[in-house]
Amino acid sequence: MKEFEAKREIIAFFRNKRDKFISGEDISDSLGFSRASVWKYIKKLREDGYSIEAVPNLGYKLAATPAKMYGYDIASVLKTRKFGKKNIYHYESIDSTNNKAYELAESGEPEGTVVIAENQTQGKGRMGRRWVSPKGTGIYMSLIVRPDAEMDEIPAMTLITAYCIIKAVKDASGLEARMKWPNDVIVNGKKLCGILTEIKAQPDQVNFLVLGIGVNVNTPSSKLPPEGTSIKNECGCEIDRPDLARGILTQFEKGYTRFTNEGFGAIRKECMDCSFTLGKKVKVLEHHRSIEGEAVDIDEKGALIIRTASGEKRRVFSGDVDVLR
Ligand code: BTN
Repeated sequence: MKEFEAKREIIAFFRNKRDKFISGEDISDSLGFSRASVWKYIKKLREDGYSIEAVPNLGYKLAATPAKMYGYDIASVLKTRKFGKKNIYHYESIDSTNNKAYELAESGEPEGTVVIAENQTQGKGRMGRRWVSPKGTGIYMSLIVRPDAEMDEIPAMTLITAYCIIKAVKDASGLEARMKWPNDVIVNGKKLCGILTEIKAQPDQVNFLVLGIGVNVNTPSSKLPPEGTSIKNECGCEIDRPDLARGILTQFEKGYTRFTNEGFGAIRKECMDCSFTLGKKVKVLEHHRSIEGEAVDIDEKGALIIRTASGEKRRVFSGDVDVLR
């Protein structure tokens, strides 16, 4: 058994038994591990920062968990079937989780694989920008997705991801975030989350997508760019990052399953309902051309429809949106 799975099973076992002491024998019998492996993995979990008490004749008790995003811990109580269930690669520090996920996807890593880091030294934003990634405060996570979809269906994936994050943030904090088309999640006009979708495709076939998700969770404003905010800033409460990551993966799996079975049309209305952009006067810069007008619709492919001053409707697939009012 891989180390990820062994630690996932032991942590899940501890969590199910809550605050009770459990014997090494109970763990080994229930999980089918040898007593030596139970001891080996308890030692490894302690090295990862878990406080596991051991009392003679009583056994072990999980007394405290570290403030980390360990993949096996996230997976231990995750109810998804695919996303985050098999493997979550966790890094203390990495250049960019998107770079790592792309590399893993190229080497054949399956759909559902997740890469998470406590800190990114070169977090990437859209259009060559940087994503500020202070250590241990946010979620920096990339998902490998292998959709059976045409190229023109891919822009909708970013919208679905944003919608799923909005739902998970609401569940975790009560905050009503909104989607700024195409890839931002905002609260009170400030950016809480950004999504960077990277793709490998042939002219007629999508090989894979890497969906990079950056969420400012407990990040203090002193560590954020001026246009950014965090969940903690907005609601005043400290959020459990592994729990929020579980929420995002759970919502994403549901959204992606709907997209796969029914197409974007099934989720389009919900995406429109949480849109910040619709009904606003906007200016979009797409491939060096600027389009100004009112954002009036998001179509069945996820494109933004802008009605210009002359009444003409223009379709925009990507770009930087300035909301004018
Ligand atoms: C943007 O708003 O410009 C997109 C930001 C995306 C940031 C995330 S953090 C995890 C993943 N790894 C990266 O290097 N970028 C994305």
